[in-house]
Amino acid sequence: MRKPAVAAFIIAAAAVAVTACTAPEPAGAPARRMSELPPPPAPADNPITAEKAALGKLLFHDKRLSGNGQMACQSCHYHHLGWADATRFSAMHNGNLNTRHTPTIYNVAYQTSWYWDGRAATLEANNLAAWRNQMGGDPARVAASLNAIPAYREAFQKAFGAPASQDTIVKALATYFRTLNTGESAWDRHEMGRANAVSRDAREGFDLFAGKGRCIVCHTPPFYTNNEHYNIGLEAGKAKPDPGRFNVTRRVEDTGAFKTPTLRAVARSAPYFHDASAATLEEAVRYMAGGGRADPHKTPLMIPTGLTDAEIRKIVAFLEALTGNDTYEAPRLP
Ligand code: HEC
Ligand code: HEC
Repeated sequence: MRKPAVAAFIIAAAAVAVTACTAPEPAGAPARRMSELPPPPAPADNPITAEKAALGKLLFHDKRLSGNGQMACQSCHYHHLGWADATRFSAMHNGNLNTRHTPTIYNVAYQTSWYWDGRAATLEANNLAAWRNQMGGDPARVAASLNAIPAYREAFQKAFGAPASQDTIVKALATYFRTLNTGESAWDRHEMGRANAVSRDAREGFDLFAGKGRCIVCHTPPFYTNNEHYNIGLEAGKAKPDPGRFNVTRRVEDTGAFKTPTLRAVARSAPYFHDASAATLEEAVRYMAGGGRADPHKTPLMIPTGLTDAEIRKIVAFLEALTGNDTYEAPRLP
């Protein structure tokens, strides 16, 4: 009897945590189901509009944004790979390898800080940094070249009433990113009450995810992340450990801490973890279930769960049911 009680407690605690950090619902509004995504938030100076999102989609694909004309944002964030790139470490514009794995950009609108270590405080700041550092983009030069293309000139006028500039390019990109939601998954359909939307393994997998595995403490619905950073032991024993969030906060306890990633659509974005050290989803779940390698800064929340192989596979079945049905078509560039 103890385990279901623990599971119920964790789910209740998670529900409280989720309601506490979203805007209060108007009286009489129907309660949101556990995994339902609220409308994406946006800053007051960059509200979401269809024109901006469509323009941002063009820019996301356009190699004109890069310093060498060879690279777009999309060169590392591919839709069919869960908006990641299936390689351990991708090469930047100058040929240097990134030292962290490309994360998914699904549901980034809902995050409260960006990058594995949370060093960007806004999505706009992240997008500008990615444009410059990953792609060697020179904002003033790119803006001038886009303003020389009539279709872009028109699109910027429609979206902003202003020409292309560092500011409008970044705002359009960030708006497009705010629309990149995973869409409806089999698990969402299950929560809506559709019979046979998911397998029995997936249902039992969720119970283990919320109960014995305690995964839900950090991978909290509806985003399946709590936006916090933790050391889970991945840097232990490395010759040159990545300091992670310590670089941002300079707090010793943040050494080797990285952001809890969303688990929506996670089945598509192998390999896993900031260091891409798990090749498959099952391997990643197995590591999490085992409590991680010993590290003086490891979070006390990361402990062995005692999940069996069969239980680990059920959790994998549940995570596979979190893959959404969103579709994607590459735009035709001007
Ligand atoms: C060469 C590969 C590459 C290119 C090109 C690239 N990215 Fe990324 N992106 C990465 C990597 C690697 C990270 C993680 C870096 C880190 O956390 O330290 C990342 C992280 C991000 C994140 C943070 C996601 C999160 O969960 O916090 C966003 C958003 C993002 N990129 C947007 C963009 C945009 C916008 C562009 C184009 C202007 C772009 N990226 C181009 C590799 C790339
Ligand atoms: C203490 C909070 C915490 C708990 C509890 C937790 N996770 Fe995580 N999880 C994280 C963090 C943080 C990362 C990323 C760490 C990194 O890459 O350095 C992560 C990464 C993952 C990844 C890789 C995702 C990706 O895109 O790379 C999977 C899969 C995952 N966790 C599943 C689980 C499962 C299943 C459980 C329960 C058995 C669980 N986690 C429990 C915090 C947690």
